[in-house]
Amino acid sequence: MSLATSRRLEVDLGDRSYPIIIGPGIISTAESYKNSIRSRQVMVVTNETVAPLYLDNVLQALRGFHVEQVILPDGEQYKTLEILNSIYDALLSSRFDRSCTLLALGGGVVGDMTGFAAASYQRGVDFVQVPTTLLSQVDSSVGGKTGVNHPLGKNMIGAFHQPRCVIADTDTLNTLPERELAAGLAEVIKYGVINDISFFEWLEANIERLLARDSEALVYAIERSCRDKAVIVAADEKEAGQRALLNLGHTFGHAIESGMGYGVWLHGEAIAAGMAMAADMSFQMGWLDADEQERIRSLLQKAHLPVDPPAEISAERFLELMSVDKKVLNGELRLVLLRGIGKAEVTADYAASALQQTVAV
Ligand code: NAD
Ligand code: GLY
Repeated sequence: MSLATSRRLEVDLGDRSYPIIIGPGIISTAESYKNSIRSRQVMVVTNETVAPLYLDNVLQALRGFHVEQVILPDGEQYKTLEILNSIYDALLSSRFDRSCTLLALGGGVVGDMTGFAAASYQRGVDFVQVPTTLLSQVDSSVGGKTGVNHPLGKNMIGAFHQPRCVIADTDTLNTLPERELAAGLAEVIKYGVINDISFFEWLEANIERLLARDSEALVYAIERSCRDKAVIVAADEKEAGQRALLNLGHTFGHAIESGMGYGVWLHGEAIAAGMAMAADMSFQMGWLDADEQERIRSLLQKAHLPVDPPAEISAERFLELMSVDKKVLNGELRLVLLRGIGKAEVTADYAASALQQTVAV
């Protein structure tokens, strides 16, 4: 498959602008990487699950470069400073200099870790995102948030560092387990709920096609999601304002992920339940009507996603976990709530009783 048949859009960040290329088969063609890799040295970072599936395709396409590789253990529980160190070890023992490029081949865990290694190695080197999960193709590979988890809080150690290019090969989704596909749909649905009601309606009509991995539907949903995200990132790269909307469901969701132990709930599953909790709280505050709340829950359920928090986390523990959120400013917890489908708002002006009721399961 050539680049000619792929879709391409741009994240507009001035002289750090970069393309997102979306289409089947594109990881295997040298043309995809041609304009985004400026160095001779390329460190491919992947994991033990993705390497046997796609590493050879990428290595073939990168013939002519000096390529080394590092293969990480697979799982959110390995998104740590300790495992990050193995990327620095590989770079230093291969004597990679500051002109090198890191290439992240895998899902959001590999992408976030590789991006942070690139942000910090020799004070910053180039990196390219080759996302292979739906979640990473629609969200984590775009926008430059990179980092690792800390036992006390998710994604708490990190940096903003934009990739040079995002290459989203939709063929790679054919090997994705169903549970991971559903987790990616949570972030797709998120864009509709935040500020794109017509995309939400399209998703209501097409969710079955996405679950069946209909290629045309997937390309459409990935492109639209990336376009929605790119607009927000271009307007507010460092999350001084509207980018926080992209965290709809995340304050609740991150509490679920760290409260249950990283890797027990998938990130997308936690975000789905978190979005349903944000909708519930918005309903209790009279911001969202019952029909809209039900439409959100129903779409998430049709995508095979959870809409209720785990019973294992008490209300008190939930509030404690939520207080370690990057949206806490001056001790005040801000939340993303809904005035309607497609009308998300970041606010600290909410009734504590509504929050208390939402986390009491
Ligand atoms: P993941 O990276 O753990 O990948 C999910 C699973 O799928 C893993 O087991 C992986 O090895 C496997 N896999 C990957 N590609 C595959 C393929 N093509 N075929 C078969 N198996 C494949 O999880 P994820 O959902 O991609 O990403 C979640 C992570 O992304 C979380 O750590 C989250 O915090 C982060 N995230 C970051 C941002 C951001 O803006 N940086 C946004 C959203 C999420
Ligand atoms: N996933 C949230 C963001 O990129 O801002």
